[in-house]
Amino acid sequence: MTDTTIKSVFGRRIWDSRGRPTVEVDIRLGCGATGRAIAPAGASMGSGEAVDLRDGGPTFGGLDVRRAVSAVNDEISARLIGLDADNQEEVDQAMITLDGTPNRNRLGGNAIVATSMAVLQARAAADKVPLWQYLAQDDDIRMPLPEIQIFGGGAHAAQRVDIQDFMIMCPGATSFSEALDWTAEVYRTAGLLMKERGCLQGVADEGGYWPAFRSNEEVLDSLVISIERAGFKPGVDIGLSLDVAASEFEEDGFYTLALGNKRYDTDEWIEILGKWLKTYPILSVEDPLAENDTEGFKTFTRMFGAECQVIGDDFLVTNAKRVTKAAADNALTAVLIKPNQAGTITETHKALEAGKSTGLGTIVSARSGESEDVIIAHLATGWDAGQLKVGSFARSERMAKWNECLRIEEALGSKARFAGRDGLVFAENSAKIKMGG
Ligand code: PGA
Ligand code: ZN
Repeated sequence: MTDTTIKSVFGRRIWDSRGRPTVEVDIRLGCGATGRAIAPAGASMGSGEAVDLRDGGPTFGGLDVRRAVSAVNDEISARLIGLDADNQEEVDQAMITLDGTPNRNRLGGNAIVATSMAVLQARAAADKVPLWQYLAQDDDIRMPLPEIQIFGGGAHAAQRVDIQDFMIMCPGATSFSEALDWTAEVYRTAGLLMKERGCLQGVADEGGYWPAFRSNEEVLDSLVISIERAGFKPGVDIGLSLDVAASEFEEDGFYTLALGNKRYDTDEWIEILGKWLKTYPILSVEDPLAENDTEGFKTFTRMFGAECQVIGDDFLVTNAKRVTKAAADNALTAVLIKPNQAGTITETHKALEAGKSTGLGTIVSARSGESEDVIIAHLATGWDAGQLKVGSFARSERMAKWNECLRIEEALGSKARFAGRDGLVFAENSAKIKMGG
């Protein structure tokens, strides 16, 4: 029998896509198999997330992770050596108990999530199979529908426009690789459009074009023009997807837009979103309301959940209990799944299963601070999430994930099925098909 006992746990400090320190962990098992993982980092975070341990002080803006790395090499290593990587839940629970805080602030969410993911990688390596295959076993899986950013905004672009992600989805494509082909054309065309208007100013944190626009509507218009100019029918071949990340501009129940200096209460803000839904072919909206505005979420989903997918990110923070409650409340139709929000692989999987079992759509997601680690490509496929959100179509920390999915699709060969429009979940009738034929 393969010896999957954890023999060594080693943490080191490396650098993420924003040039900030982060934690990488290497695991070695008795059979010699190894696993490695890197902690990602958010910028627009939900208040209920597991938190990173950062050193503070003058170095690197206080963002150094030397204490988190030490936690891996001292306490976590001592606790995990001898445990069986085959029992991910036991390993993860050991770290949760060892940390002892509700939000992982003693040992660090960054230390714990990197270790948890590295253990999973090592366990798959012990079977000598890719991670997606280890996770799927004999289950039928689908290639996820990708959500890909064209313009950045919000906290990822110094609040230049309010909305954080202006993305496209290609449910009309017949395969994952075709969805990427279409996206490449739209992304390139959007760049040409920005150049033509004299507003090409580089890219935001996730690789989408810097949003040098005068209003949120101008970004939406540009997105539709880019889809058309690239030769596709907006709303038929390709739809829009927004991450509003509304917690970033909500205060005391009011939503304040930076551009135009306007302030709206929940109902007024929902009305504005409703106008956008009428005007533009929007298929999906993430965090339309702030994380504490549950009533707003319910109202929005009641009004628009049958015509667009309503995703909870900061609202649910990849927490199984919150997912189950929100589904019972009909507060949304889908849940974003981020391993470092939950804290460990076990908790991440539980949140995803809670979403699936309550009929919600599930979207595995990257963070704005990323790395060459491609684990989310494997989680999205191996767990059959149906959707994957990685950021834009530029910069290698993003492309590494898209490219890994291409390899997985190729490995699946004739068994490869694309989730396409079935990946999306709307209210009332989860089979409702909004676009195409
Ligand atoms: P973050 O944002 O990684 O900066 O927190 C991503 C998102 O809101 O989906
Ligand atoms: Zn979000």
